[in-house]
Amino acid sequence: MPGGVDAHVHPDEPPLFGKGSTADNYETGMCRIQPSRVLPQVFSGSRSAICGGTTTMVTFAPQKKSEDTLLDTLHATHAKAHDNCYIDYSFHLIIGNPSLNALYEFKTLREEGISSLKIYMTYEALQLNDRQILDVLLEARKQKITTMVHAENGQVVDWITAQLEKRKMFAPKYHCTSHPPMAEIEATYRAISLSEFIDTPILIVHVSTPAAAAHIKQAQDKGLPIYAETCPQYLYLTKKDLDQPGFEGAKCVCSPPPRESEADCDGIWDGLANDTFTILSSDHCPFRYDDDVNGKKTSISEDYPVGHFKYIPNGCPGIETRLALTLSAERLEIKKFVQVTSSNPAKLYGLWPRKGGLVEGESDADINIWYPPGKMQEYFLNNKMLHREVDYTPYEGRKMKQWPRYTILRGQAVWDKENGGLLGKKGYGKFIKRDASSLAGRGIRENGTYCCEGDVYGNEVESSLTVARELEFI
Ligand code: URP
Ligand code: ZN
Ligand code: ZN
Repeated sequence: MPGGVDAHVHPDEPPLFGKGSTADNYETGMCRIQPSRVLPQVFSGSRSAICGGTTTMVTFAPQKKSEDTLLDTLHATHAKAHDNCYIDYSFHLIIGNPSLNALYEFKTLREEGISSLKIYMTYEALQLNDRQILDVLLEARKQKITTMVHAENGQVVDWITAQLEKRKMFAPKYHCTSHPPMAEIEATYRAISLSEFIDTPILIVHVSTPAAAAHIKQAQDKGLPIYAETCPQYLYLTKKDLDQPGFEGAKCVCSPPPRESEADCDGIWDGLANDTFTILSSDHCPFRYDDDVNGKKTSISEDYPVGHFKYIPNGCPGIETRLALTLSAERLEIKKFVQVTSSNPAKLYGLWPRKGGLVEGESDADINIWYPPGKMQEYFLNNKMLHREVDYTPYEGRKMKQWPRYTILRGQAVWDKENGGLLGKKGYGKFIKRDASSLAGRGIRENGTYCCEGDVYGNEVESSLTVARELEFI
């Protein structure tokens, strides 16, 4: 198979997602997890990636609300990654402040090989209002940039959080209560509506709720350029994993949270099988559990002996386990597995056919060789097997049937499971300039123009495009 492409990875970012964290260590360029060890997480994350068969990652360059420029953010992120990566990489810009200047810089981003952005509808430190989202989408449309949207209604989350606090409900499991499916479903529908209005492609990231997936499917069936991503956490974890004694549940705190029951996980598997989800990414977030400097235990204090859910940094580690966990489940056809974990992310984010495929004369020789089905001795996943600084996996003890036997990156063997394990070298990974999305079909046509007059079958799309036309957006 082609090497894995993981298009949603958070290494070495300012800790904007857990409300109890500070940004100091980012400023100094230190590892925020253990400042005493100057170990950029982009480095350990990419080492971990390669040992699990991922040969390309797209990480985030996060602009803070207090910053006016995107280019400084981009260049600072380049400096962190340069000479530090085991695998090839690119960046999505996170837009924390869509100022006039930042919007103006979208054009330069494209020239620098960046063709995607992420915006947030939640998290105080990053949340954009609808007006700001429209600003971003319009400029993204002009520059043929794909916008990733974290779709949760931040005000709903904050309101429920305050209700829980009033009742002194602080345990990790209340993270689920504070991020109800409704907050995701509403924001997903709103994001789709805003995208339809501007007529520009979006990708809804880390979808966790079958009802949100249903909105996405309905939009896709109308011919709208709406793409979606899910992650292993929503295939494997449920609320039960957060409802553990003491602080243990913190290991599975991410946003959106794992949902109520296995029926929700089944709904997400179905969405992979029926093409609602274009890609399956890890949303790798390398917080340590047993560390009191911006790790998960940061949220424990005298007042909150089992922590306070709202201070637990959001996100789970998963870059190394994404491929093997998914393949081990034996629930996806092999072709679909390759599409959602490798070729679709490459197409969606302008890396195809160099990445995500095995096209003679065009693709880099990024290859995973797996064990023939049934030939690998079953085993139980254990964090000690993994190659990174994070001290836990949410999937501890899961029965596994697969792991890459060999991984090859640009023709070089970088992983040999039975002879030495990691063979790759830090610094071998290169920045890859990206083009506009080349995903054919719904939304973006093969020739790169957007689908604004009708769906891919040429049918007129009934929509709110009339106003957008009047204003000459399109
Ligand atoms: O909980 C999550 N997903 N943390 C990472 C940040 C994000 O929103 O992707
Ligand atoms: Zn997100
Ligand atoms: Zn994320």
